[in-house]
Parts: sequence; C-alpha cells; structure tokens
Amino acid sequence: MIRVISVVGARPNFMKVAPIHRAFQAVSDQFEHHIVHTGQHYDASMSDAFFADLAMPQPSYFLGVGSGSHAQQTAKVITGFEQVCLEARPDYVIVVGDVNSTVACALTSVKLGIRTAHVEAGLRSGDRSMPEEINRLATDAIVNDLFVTEHSGVEHLLSEGAPSSSVHLVGNTMVDSLFWALPLADNSTVLDRLNLRTVPYALVTLHRPSNVDDPEQLRALLTTLATLSEEVAIVFPMHPRTQKHVADLGLSLPAKVIVTEPCGYVDFLALMKNAVCVITDSGGIQEETTALRIPCVTARTTTERPITTEIGTNVLVPPEPEAITVAVRKVLQGNHKHGQVPELWDGHAAERIVSIISRFYE
Ligand code: UD1
Repeated sequence: MIRVISVVGARPNFMKVAPIHRAFQAVSDQFEHHIVHTGQHYDASMSDAFFADLAMPQPSYFLGVGSGSHAQQTAKVITGFEQVCLEARPDYVIVVGDVNSTVACALTSVKLGIRTAHVEAGLRSGDRSMPEEINRLATDAIVNDLFVTEHSGVEHLLSEGAPSSSVHLVGNTMVDSLFWALPLADNSTVLDRLNLRTVPYALVTLHRPSNVDDPEQLRALLTTLATLSEEVAIVFPMHPRTQKHVADLGLSLPAKVIVTEPCGYVDFLALMKNAVCVITDSGGIQEETTALRIPCVTARTTTERPITTEIGTNVLVPPEPEAITVAVRKVLQGNHKHGQVPELWDGHAAERIVSIISRFYE
C-alpha cells in the first residue's frame, strides 16, 4: 500500500485537495490517502465550513499552528509537519497552492527524502513583494513532480530549468471542486437570506496585503465600493485579515454595502454564480469566475493566472477607485467578455494527477 499525505493549511487549499482525496479513494486498493491540516486558517468560517461543504474526511493530523509572522507560522508548520512525516512515514507528499503551509511542508518532506508534488505549480505573478510569489518559486524549485493548471505554468517551469519529465499539465483541481459542488449551490439559501434573489448584485472579496494592510489603500477601496453601491447592490463577505484592519483603523463601512462574515464554499459559489460581476483581489476567484463565465474585475497590477485574462472573463485593473469604477460600469452596461473555459478545466484534473502518480509506482 502506498501512503500519500496531502497538506491543507488555508482556505484556498481545501477545494484543491477535496477532489484529489476522492480520486485516491477510487484506487484505495493501491493507495492510502491522508489529509494533514496545518491549522494556518482556524476560524470555523475559514476552515471547518469547507470540510463540511466539500465532504472531506477529518484530517488525520492537525498541527494547530494558527496565525503569526511569516517566519513564526512557517517555522511552526515545518516542525509540526516533520513530526507527522516521521510518525506516518508517507511515501508521497502533495502540497497545493501558494500559502505559507505549501512551502513549509514541501521543504520538510523534500529534506526527509520523500517524493513530493506541487499541485498548481508554475504560476508566476512576477511580483516578489507578494508572499505567495516567494512561496511558489521556492516550492517549485525543490519538489519532484509539478502539476500545472495552465500553459503559462509549463513555460515558467521549463525556463527555470525544471526537467520536462517532471512537468505535467493536468488542469485545475479547484475547477474539479467547482463543478462537483455546483448542483449543491443551487440549493443554497444564501440569496434569500441576503434578499438578493431578484436583485442584480456585484460580489466583492478583498484580502491581499497590498490592498488591505495599507490604511490609505483600504480607505480608497471602501470609498470605491460606496460609490458603486449607488449603482448596483454589493455584497462583501469580509476576510478576517480585512475585518481586523477595518476594526483597528476604526473605519466605517459604506452604508449600502452588504457586509457578511466569510461564506462557506457552497454559499460562496451560489453568490458567485448569480452575480452580475465579481470584484476581487483573490487568485482562485479569477479562475472560478472564468470557469463559470462570470465577469471578474481583479483589482491588482499583476496576475499569476494569465489564462483568465487572455481567454477568460477576467480583467486586471489597477487597484484604484477610477479604474475599478470604470471597469465595473462597463460590465453593468453589458460591455464585457463572455470568455472561454481553458483546456483541461473539465472537472477531471485530480483523476489525471492520481493516474500519473500511480504510474510512478507501477
Ligand atoms: C492566506 C494566504 C493567501 C490566501 C489567503 C486566503 C499566505 C502567505 N497567504 O492569507 O495566499 O489567499 O490565505 O484566505 O499563506 N485570521 C483569522 N482567522 C483565520 C485565519 C486568519 O482571524 O482562520 C486572521 C489573523 O489575524 C491572521 C490574518 O487573518 O493574522 C492573516 O492570516 P494568514 O493566514 O497569515 O494570511 P491570509 O491573509 O489569510
């Protein structure tokens, strides 16, 4: 029996690992699959709700690292995950995405000589002031197997010197989860609870340090939402990081904007699927809106997911009031891209990953 550990740490990891777990369950005569949760995200709304919505089993190990500086958080994951690896003796470790838990666990397992894969390898924003960009570069430089969501990722990895035999374009496991959960989203009551069933609305998420840690920038973004809320209903499930800065700065929220706690996965899909437009600085939401063909305005200067702007519904705009307002108004006027869904974003990426891994052990 081959023992595989997949690591989850923060909110965007759960939907990437859920389909991988299901694909391993289908070959349980050959593989034993365990989930390790580092506890980087720990609030019920940022973690527990996702296990329930995605029908994931409880993690076999929970490290409980919690928040801290980047160094503290990364160090705690490394020491905790080393103990897990020594105890559980996995043959194979899978890390996903670009959060601190991703790089910390990759570093740990590679140094223990365990074959390690990165799912969502090769994405590059080119902006090294983003903590996620450092996590992506460092992880891809050391792991054995690189599973990639879009062509740009393959190009980056090859130009950085990865052997082509280690690079596999497989599609997007986040989109696997999206297609799996869409029927559940149709039963969500979130639109009724927010009185949005018959009202056109824009859905907003903002949590990037570059947008919410700087007081002036956060103020400017809230003012932009206030302006837009005169033209369209706005619902804003607020990330804990953003909530904390709003509270610390004593900022008041625009009266007409519907601010909620972070949503569960299925409720968020329901909100996304029925929105006229999404305004975000997230990575994954750029992909989810492209897969759903919902117009997305990304308030960032760079994206590590260029396929979403090249063929998808995403537009990148400088995170400034004027640029965001103009882009959203265009969408409201019906002047937006209809987009195509990228190659291999078909709901079967996790099966491809598991089938490639099983070939390593033939
Ligand atoms: C992390 C990821 C980011 C991802 C995001 C999605 C890194 C470097 N960043 O950013 O790539 O897009 O998750 O959510 O790994 N907090 C809570 N409860 C929680 C989690 C966080 O209150 O369950 C608060 C804490 O005050 C914490 C702050 O949010 O200090 C930031 O959390 P952290 O995990 O460090 O980074 P995120 O901003 O969530």
